[in-house]
Amino acid sequence: MIQTISVLRGRGRNGEPEPFERIDLQMGQVVSIVGPTGSGKTTFINDIELFADGDTPSGRRVLINGEPAPVEYRYNPAKNPIALITQHTTFLSDLPVREFLSTHCRVRESNNDAGHLVAEAIDFANQLTGEPIDLDNRMTELSGGQTRALLIADASVICSTPVVLLDEVENAGINRSKAIQLLRQRRKIFIFVTHDPRIALLSDFRIVMQCGSIRNVLSTSEEERRVSVRVNKLDDALSSLRDKLRHGHRLTVDELKEVA
Ligand SMILES: Nc1ncnc2c1ncn2[C@@H]1O[C@H](COP(=O)(O)OP(=O)(O)OP(=O)(O)O)[C@@H](O)[C@H]1O
Ligand SMILES: [Mg+2]
Repeated sequence: MIQTISVLRGRGRNGEPEPFERIDLQMGQVVSIVGPTGSGKTTFINDIELFADGDTPSGRRVLINGEPAPVEYRYNPAKNPIALITQHTTFLSDLPVREFLSTHCRVRESNNDAGHLVAEAIDFANQLTGEPIDLDNRMTELSGGQTRALLIADASVICSTPVVLLDEVENAGINRSKAIQLLRQRRKIFIFVTHDPRIALLSDFRIVMQCGSIRNVLSTSEEERRVSVRVNKLDDALSSLRDKLRHGHRLTVDELKEVA
């Protein structure tokens, strides 16, 4: 059982050692990685996915429960405890969604009934996306938002890996609050690379990147939790505007009244 993932100090892009000797991520935590474009966010989560051992450009090392990762994690896909949903997702397979999910159940050697898991995964995905996915859709036909939603559901329900890494979910028309709410019901470590204040403030803490280096680690404060309530309202209001525009409606001056 994974309890802790530790990231041990590496170097930034300029070769300077990082200011934190060790950062521990505990089971059940939701963590955000924030920072400007090019600051090293993707590199950081890739280090975790690769179980870096001083052998990546950052020189970081990753420990699982305080020890180097068992070798089978790297070589046996059924044993790998990490699911990574990348920034740029394209499918090479044009299998129908049903086939994709049930094949994945077999690869993961899941003990549960595959039909049941597939149904649960599709239900999970359809709570995240505005446009429902049909099990008979082909993987290559899915929209960006549907693809992300399906991959998040797949990682949460079918892989049931204890660690899920998500590189920028926000660009993909996903219901983010719902995603975090659903994800929090499953005991895992979630690491979100994000530019989105809503996700950052719903996290337990955020790791701030700069020039390839971890610059700071900030827990969400009580004050920020209060700000977060307002951020969610603003964000909902913007989403609703976006929806109206998408559906060809005109906006009125009353539109943002409740949050102004
Ligand atoms: N610690 C490091 N040492 C050396 N190179 C690094 C380090 N961290 C990041 N880089 C390099 O810097 C570049 C940008 O990093 P990365 O893609 O991780 O940024 P990002 O924050 O994910 O950017 P974006 O927001 O555009 O996705 C990459 O080429 C990466 O290999
Ligand atoms: Mg990136």
